[in-house]
Amino acid sequence: MPAERILLTSEQIQSRVREMAGQIEADYPPGPIYIVSILKGSFIFVADLSRALKRHCVRIEFMGISSYGNQKTSSGQVKVTRDLDVNIEGQHVLIVEDIIDSGVTLSYLTRVLEQRKPKSLEIATLLDKPERRIRPVRVKYVGFQIPDEFVVGYGLDYAEDYRNLSDIRVIDGEATDSEQAALFR
Ligand code: PRP
Repeated sequence: MPAERILLTSEQIQSRVREMAGQIEADYPPGPIYIVSILKGSFIFVADLSRALKRHCVRIEFMGISSYGNQKTSSGQVKVTRDLDVNIEGQHVLIVEDIIDSGVTLSYLTRVLEQRKPKSLEIATLLDKPERRIRPVRVKYVGFQIPDEFVVGYGLDYAEDYRNLSDIRVIDGEATDSEQAALFR
């Protein structure tokens, strides 16, 4: 396993999540907010963010998205592998992600969800790597902008490991070829 170092402590994350929740509460009128959690990486952020919101009508829905091809080019192909089971027409919808990297996933997803005519559609991400963007994405709530390093923990994985960490760590060091393949997202 490669070396790792802490980038964001659990305390830093929890404090920022509370701030983001406060901003969201202030921005939305009373009434339901439909949180769309993108599996799998966002599950911990969604759990903490939703519990930090004060209103009782926070609806939590899940979507699965998979990417094919090389996301370093604009040919990255995305498809929905698990769809919502509610109608979001006329609702305030907040997509919640753990990280935005190339932007391929969210530029696709926002197009898909816009077609369903929500009253509003915004994005909250805990982490943003703006250097890596190849597709523009309009993101309203960003927890932390981070450099282009491979991060794990708080929902983010390395070959399905590390998702359960309470902090966010950078994976350092030389990766083997098979590790490189697993790292690619
Ligand atoms: C991550 C993340 C986003 C996507 C962002 O998911 O949760 O969905 O990558 O990358 P992009 O901006 O380059 O499209 P991942 O494919 O690692 O799946 P996981 O959440 O199930 O780990």
